[in-house]
Amino acid sequence: MADWSKTTWRNKPRIQMPEYTDAQALAAVEAKLGSYPPLVFAGEARRLKAALGKAVTGDAFLLQGGDCAESFADFSADNIRDTFKVMLQMAMVLTYGAKVPVVKVGRMAGQFAKPRSANTETINGVELPSYRGDIINELAFTEAARIPDPQKMLQAYTQSAATLNLLRAFSTGGYADVNSVHSWTLGFTDGAEVEKYRAMAERISDTLDFMRAAGVSSDRAHSLQTVDFYTSHESLLLEYEQALTRLDSTSGDMIAGSGHMIWIGDRTRQPDGAHVEFARGVINPIGLKCGPTMQVDDLKRLIATLNPENEAGRLTLIARFGAGSVGDHLPRLIKAVEEEGAKVVWACDAMHGNTIKSSSGYKTRPFDSVLREVQEFFAIHKAEGTIAGGVHFEMTGSDVTECTGGVRAVTDENLSDRYHTACDPRLNASQSLELAFLVAEELSARNTAQSLAKAG
Ligand code: PEP
Ligand code: CO
Repeated sequence: MADWSKTTWRNKPRIQMPEYTDAQALAAVEAKLGSYPPLVFAGEARRLKAALGKAVTGDAFLLQGGDCAESFADFSADNIRDTFKVMLQMAMVLTYGAKVPVVKVGRMAGQFAKPRSANTETINGVELPSYRGDIINELAFTEAARIPDPQKMLQAYTQSAATLNLLRAFSTGGYADVNSVHSWTLGFTDGAEVEKYRAMAERISDTLDFMRAAGVSSDRAHSLQTVDFYTSHESLLLEYEQALTRLDSTSGDMIAGSGHMIWIGDRTRQPDGAHVEFARGVINPIGLKCGPTMQVDDLKRLIATLNPENEAGRLTLIARFGAGSVGDHLPRLIKAVEEEGAKVVWACDAMHGNTIKSSSGYKTRPFDSVLREVQEFFAIHKAEGTIAGGVHFEMTGSDVTECTGGVRAVTDENLSDRYHTACDPRLNASQSLELAFLVAEELSARNTAQSLAKAG
């Protein structure tokens, strides 16, 4: 790309990024990161792009999920394993509903930097800079903790590398075997309160039994034992992103080496801004958050800038309007995409438009609102004749109490029990899997409608 380099974002207006006070310390960290190995490789990003390309036409379905913000304090093998595990369970249920491959992308191994609605936070009359994620400053409410420290980028890199290492091991080392994944799901449907999902789980069991009888067992079919699992994060801290950007020597392409897929947040998607400038020049799949303020003209410009070749799988539009508001915004954006003939994956982030303050004072998201936004998203795509290509959740495999509702109900009063998030509230393991069953019903209804249409 002639007019782009990994530093051209520096000439554009930037927002939501820290002002580091020690320029020398920052430069030293950037140089060090620049000398380290990238976390992902161009071939992997291309493989993900090809997989997402299928989601454009409904021949695959995207499941993207993980923490709102990864944290240094909660870094452990158990947390990584539990989130990976519940994502595999969700993917299996969704595969059953969709009857197409599910592309699994974690908000993991790099999801550290957070955009904030306000630059400062005031508690008891004391005003301090906002917390911006562990890669930038600290959550503790003291003046020292809130000073941006470039050294934190090195810790984020190390944690991302170790996380990715474990994810790669889990993906290929037998842990992801289709039969184990299903046995965990059966454990979930055993409880009386989730009986309504048992029928689908039993149909999946039957299918696996049939495959085994037909000789398609895990020890013979390598693909049943291993999974493709990809990483993603918001490309917000551009000094970090630039430092990990590498030239792929075989193709001459530039790749953001920090994760397989990167996305641009709803607050930093200005067509002339630094974040769009950085993303346009790397070959990774790019996500673009589309909230209620997304204008049609801006969306058209962003599509042209971020995906000039109209490559399927390059661009995923992640709609996040809030339950009850999808109908006010999604149709006009779908129309813009159709007018441009743009090949995009449409995914639904059913979290960021549904954050409320509970009566007990906690920031939460009601399970029913999350579900309703997904249902509205599906209904509108059906009405417009376009494809609902994926879902995006903030979730964890741990048994936290951050979102209310679900069949194993979390109430407003329960929120204080295990409210661990450093940022936005996440669905817990049970809520995540339940949601997968409900989304699978949507997908399954769509399949039935499509086969009836074909037959008729
Ligand atoms: C996020 O995904 O954590 C986020 C901040 O989303 P958005 O940019 O859509 O607000
Ligand atoms: Co969030």
